[in-house]
Amino acid sequence: MDMETAKLILHGQEHEFPVTVGTEGEEGIDIRKLRATTGAVTLDPGFGNTGSCESGITFINGEEGILRYRGYSIEELTEKSSFLEVAHLLIQGELPTREQLDHFRHRLTYHSLLHEDMKKFFEGFPPSAHPMSVLSTIVASLSAYYPENDDPTDIDLNIVRLLAKIKTIAAFAYKKSIGQPYVYPRNNLTYTGDFLHMMFAVPSEDYEIDPLVEETLDKLLILHADHEQNCSTSTVRMVGSSGASLFAAISAGVSALSGPLHGGANQAVINMLERIRADGGNYRKYLNMAKDRSSGFRLMGFGHRVYKNFDPRARVIKASADQVLARLGVDDPLLDIAKELERAALEDEYFVSRKLYPNVDFYSGILYRAMGIPTNMFTVMFAMGRLPGWIAQWKEMHNDPNTRIYRPRQIYVGARARPYVPIDQRS
Ligand code: CMC
Repeated sequence: MDMETAKLILHGQEHEFPVTVGTEGEEGIDIRKLRATTGAVTLDPGFGNTGSCESGITFINGEEGILRYRGYSIEELTEKSSFLEVAHLLIQGELPTREQLDHFRHRLTYHSLLHEDMKKFFEGFPPSAHPMSVLSTIVASLSAYYPENDDPTDIDLNIVRLLAKIKTIAAFAYKKSIGQPYVYPRNNLTYTGDFLHMMFAVPSEDYEIDPLVEETLDKLLILHADHEQNCSTSTVRMVGSSGASLFAAISAGVSALSGPLHGGANQAVINMLERIRADGGNYRKYLNMAKDRSSGFRLMGFGHRVYKNFDPRARVIKASADQVLARLGVDDPLLDIAKELERAALEDEYFVSRKLYPNVDFYSGILYRAMGIPTNMFTVMFAMGRLPGWIAQWKEMHNDPNTRIYRPRQIYVGARARPYVPIDQRS
């Protein structure tokens, strides 16, 4: 293979395919004409080697543990930027000027109310409903209240509505689950401050937002804001590729995120750590279980499809976990178990040889707990953070003239053609 073309020999015949090179030197063999020229398709279950699109949003180098949004490193963004600046960066392509940020913040503030009738949807759910299923349902139903069309101005307005309302939906879902009255959004608070207020304020007393909690949450949202073509983002693009609306595509993304192998892992990590604590803190037993395939148990918060080195997001969270917990005065025994488990796993041949490192979800739950966020809301926090990324990816796909409906092929391995068997002749 040279830099421009790749050669494939199939049934003794040579075929040539162009090679696309990205701005960071990544190479992709362009097999768009593969089936037309060879009759064959590629087989790649889980799409581990399939580039589904060209994208200018997020760059990851999994071997070196690099994550950048539009060229800016995740470390620098979490240290110097705010979640709204990052949302602007992802969706509009550039960091906002002060004036642009003020305008963006103003719009997000003034679109944060939900239509009053939508409260009836929340009332229809049982209190036991998982907030992620409530979130995906309400996001899908937004299209009934805010009709969607192809006009760029209307799309832009619906993007703002979605970003503004997701925190209201998330907080209402929580209030519903604990049977407390809904707290309405307030225009004098920051994006994260408003969310915390809607989550934790009660009519009987004043709620004071802790600036450290507000700042930590803002950083966590930045860390989750995009992650190129992961399961939920690919879902958003796939649903959107059919021409389905923004709200429909994002709702599908929320559902994809809820699984324990994806965003649901942050909740699963805490459940796992609690299980270990209840079992006398015997983390080695769980480490051994994770190494035994037949146990069906995996170390939640460990491993990643792309990172074969430390997940840079986990590094940022871990670095601040001790400090935040100390400043909040929280002594969480689960943090000690997590550290022991991590240390043991990083020394274990099974994890070392498979390059399994802690991922973003390993420590994020500990921080959410310290902030008073209930466990069943952890994945909702991930969804709030990921929303700007989903929107940016949907928009990029929507505006790309080369977008085709997502429609993978398969290799059929079922029964060959056979005659129909009447019911009384079947054995
Ligand atoms: N515990 C034990 N073994 C593991 C784990 C784990 N957490 N993760 C991977 N392995 C093993 C796996 O059994 C396989 O071993 P072998 O080669 O002997 O068959 C090998 O490592 C490769 O794993 P894989 O399943 O082929 O890897 P994948 O890329 O398909 O899966 C993953 C990636 C994240 C789903 C997986 O590592 C996992 O299930 N981790 C736990 C769930 C988790 O923490 N998910 C959050 C991911 S980060 C947040 C996000 O972006 O969604």
